Amino acid sequence: MAEAPFGLLAELTHRCPLQCGYCSNPVELVRRNAELDTESWRRVFDQARSLGALQIHLSGGEPLLRPDLPELVTHANSLGCYVNLVTSGVGLSRDRLRDLASHGVDHVQLSLQDATREGNDRIAGIKAFDRKVEAAAYIRDEGLPLTVNTVLHRQNLDNIAGIIAMAEEMGAERLELANTQYYGWALRNRAVLLPTREQLAVADPIVAAAQERLRGRMEIVYVIADYHEAHPKPCMYGWGVRQLTVAPNGDVLPCPAATVISSLEIENVRDSSLHEIWHNSPSFNAFRGFEWMKDPCRSCPRKEIDFGGCRCQAFQLTGDAANTDPVCSLSPSRSTVDLILETEMTPAEVPAMAMRKMT
Ligand code: SF4
Ligand code: FES
Repeated sequence: MAEAPFGLLAELTHRCPLQCGYCSNPVELVRRNAELDTESWRRVFDQARSLGALQIHLSGGEPLLRPDLPELVTHANSLGCYVNLVTSGVGLSRDRLRDLASHGVDHVQLSLQDATREGNDRIAGIKAFDRKVEAAAYIRDEGLPLTVNTVLHRQNLDNIAGIIAMAEEMGAERLELANTQYYGWALRNRAVLLPTREQLAVADPIVAAAQERLRGRMEIVYVIADYHEAHPKPCMYGWGVRQLTVAPNGDVLPCPAATVISSLEIENVRDSSLHEIWHNSPSFNAFRGFEWMKDPCRSCPRKEIDFGGCRCQAFQLTGDAANTDPVCSLSPSRSTVDLILETEMTPAEVPAMAMRKMT
């Protein structure tokens, strides 16, 4: 029997005031009329808690767009869960934050697109920078722990020092600098987003120096640009191991991007319990453990470190989710990634960013 998940990622809605082209949400976003209602989310939280989850991440899209957010926070809190609000900060007034904190929000993760107003608002597609600065001040004044999350790519990587300084100024306890993962909208925009080797060579030591300088004050988590690496990331720390995601329409996903694997039969909370899905569904069991692996992963000593990389990436780039992640230098498909780097990293003509929009 699989061990209990640590946490539930509850994607309350795909609606969002921002239009970031690096978003890993699916290109086909779930519309408002297909979202789970309040009662269904309460049931999902109950089931996640009885499954063993202790953290509930309220995410999206923008969870502040759900009018029932205070009620959902209260319910998650009443179950004894640690409640993390993942937000763009747009729509977070001082009163709203105070109210959410009184209902039981324990932590806020605030996105920041870039270090400057111009850069941030260009990437977000709307004027959001000032709202974020204000939101950070409200969070700090309320005494809630703050994580700032910046997704890195070719458009903002040169400003990494400014992004770190901005997070310090905002009073963040934690800064996540996550190189873009290419799923959903980000995959569509890969040729605009892929960083160059030169950019990474400059950014990496800046991050390392800041990690050292800020040790004990602000933790900096740096997620690598995996296309440029010889080994893949240990995606999700293994399939169906630590976390489960419930999409706005109730689909239950072993990883937030799992809808890209079109061969995977996705279950829904409207038809089955989280307990049943976590333990017994074909989707959650498809890549658990090591039995499903083919060579070179099957006979590779690194399989216990990286679990063969990312199933979604393997599917997207090779057509079979059970293949070795083609980022790996041992993968027979590594040349696919090399070709992408060659052609898309510095394309002769840079395409326009497709902004994330519900159509
Ligand atoms: Fe990881 Fe598989 Fe590559 Fe080995 S062969 S390093 S397990 S992805
Ligand atoms: Fe789905 Fe890596 S993003 S397994």
